[in-house]
Amino acid sequence: MKFPFLTLTRGCETFYRFQQRGVLLADQRLWSSALKHSSQLCKDKSFYITTPIFYVNASPHLGHLYSAVIADCLHRWKLMQGFDSRFATGTDEHGLKIQQAVEAVGKDPLTFCTEVSERFRNLFSSCNISFTDYIRTTEQRHRRAVEHFWSVLWNKGLIYKGSYEGWYSTQDESFLMPSQVGEALDPSGKKVKVSLESGHKVEWMKEENYMFRLSIFRSRLLDWLVKNPGAVQPERFQQAVVQWLQEDLPDLSVSRQRSRLQWGVPVPGDPEQTIYVWLDALVNYLTVVGYPEIHEQWWSAAHHVIGKDILKFHAIYWPAFLLGVGLPLPKVIHVHSHWTVAGRKMSKSLGNVVDPVEHSQMFTNDGMRYFLLRQGVPDSDCDYTHDKVIKLLNTELADSLGGLLNRCTAPALNPAQVYPAFCSQAFPRDQRGRAVAEDYQMVAAVRSLPTVVEKYYESIHVYKALEAISACVRQTNRFIQRHAPWKLDRRDSKDRRWLDAIIHVSLECLRIYGTLLQPVVPEISNRLLTRLGVQPHERSWKNLDFLQRYHGTDCPFEGRLLGLDSRLLFSRLEGQNGDKQKPKKSKKPACLK
Ligand code: MSP
Repeated sequence: MKFPFLTLTRGCETFYRFQQRGVLLADQRLWSSALKHSSQLCKDKSFYITTPIFYVNASPHLGHLYSAVIADCLHRWKLMQGFDSRFATGTDEHGLKIQQAVEAVGKDPLTFCTEVSERFRNLFSSCNISFTDYIRTTEQRHRRAVEHFWSVLWNKGLIYKGSYEGWYSTQDESFLMPSQVGEALDPSGKKVKVSLESGHKVEWMKEENYMFRLSIFRSRLLDWLVKNPGAVQPERFQQAVVQWLQEDLPDLSVSRQRSRLQWGVPVPGDPEQTIYVWLDALVNYLTVVGYPEIHEQWWSAAHHVIGKDILKFHAIYWPAFLLGVGLPLPKVIHVHSHWTVAGRKMSKSLGNVVDPVEHSQMFTNDGMRYFLLRQGVPDSDCDYTHDKVIKLLNTELADSLGGLLNRCTAPALNPAQVYPAFCSQAFPRDQRGRAVAEDYQMVAAVRSLPTVVEKYYESIHVYKALEAISACVRQTNRFIQRHAPWKLDRRDSKDRRWLDAIIHVSLECLRIYGTLLQPVVPEISNRLLTRLGVQPHERSWKNLDFLQRYHGTDCPFEGRLLGLDSRLLFSRLEGQNGDKQKPKKSKKPACLK
């Protein structure tokens, strides 16, 4: 689905609207955040978000989809806020690892890469990953960018011909220090050397190749991190980088002999050498925004989403390369942790790789997106099991959110199928009506929800945003339960006004939840908002004014016809052994008096 594109001017309008309504914003924190946010909208409206580009040696798995869903969520959120956002993903197709995978199947390399790259593209398209560019490192535009990037480093004297001797992991495409290597037994019981971090096999290599003067960037990298405390998020990953930088930082080998690695970009001016796949791959972020031609507008707004295993490449090598060529460093590197399956690392050899295509069909695209973002914690690894998925989706999407929508739109409670009128006598601001203390607490919570959600979406702590939304949904369900509108008598004018006010408040809550959930579950949100009669242009950040009538301004939705009742918001899922989990008992309006 598309979000309305808001212009810079509209961002400024929001600011002035917030300013004029200043007196009505009871919560001072909300007010200052609105100010801060809106002034930001006025200043710069470009946003550029990337996922890592995925190796094509194997089919996509759940972890890959997770990286993409996080970036997609942030991209959609920024669009909602009126930013002009670009979102790039794609595939990493060069290097020894891919060369070996190609040799194993005996196919033409490009044909092989195209096949697997298409699998990633199809997965992302089917899961509503709304990328604006899909980059492949085998594309000509990328080769040009890599060659140019290399030449700048070379011309600045930052690359020199030398010789490298040390450990190399092909699986990680990474050079390792002796302290990063240990011993393990391979499947046949033979002792082998492995990377202590990834567990992948390493080999000793000795080669003439080109070296990048990484060592001279150590203090500049430390300085960058000290001056930019949020450059790598969450903080524990920034601390890890600082720690690494305090250790030895030797120069980096940035090419391999052509005789060993043919599948890659040749070093400009030296066809006997191939550019190191990580240098090649990292430049993709620049290729997408037009490098070496005009790229400044987007490059200065770059945000990377990466998994924790590729932190060193993104937070040390990449910034050092960029400092070398004289380009700005990324604004933020967002790091996420990994998914395990039933407590174990996901791996082909263990046979426990979760196929995201199969699982998205089983749990729906939005179901899968919701689960990954609701359970995924950036700071630590999370475990994936069927039962957890089913339980979470049934509880929060089917029962809680779906149930709330059903209750408020049921013809028994809402025979006219409208967004009913709010009555300020029944629900006055001075708390002298029929509303009780908990109702006012709910109103305050939903009112501040956008600010809370904003903070968590932007730091990719999406699970906290969803936790906050879910808590509010529960509060609204309790609000309905507490006042049992099905017991009210519509023929009595006082009862009718109160009943309408209850439904109005609940629909307003749902409108806020539906709007805020768009970056996470775009299809469900669309169904929900359509059912409420909220038009596509009324679904952005500037439409998050909650319960305007209570706060003394007009509500554009009051009296409006609801949209058609199409289908369930989210159908309950069956357990693995076929048993349908019982929905929680809730009082449904059987009929009205
Ligand atoms: N090609 C490099 C990235 C180059 S970016 C310039 C690469 N590719 S990858 O396919 O191996 O990994 C891509 C992303 O998937 C990484 O962010 C990685 O952390 C993520 N995941 C791989 N396994 C994962 C899990 N089990 N769980 C969550 N994410 C995981 O690295």
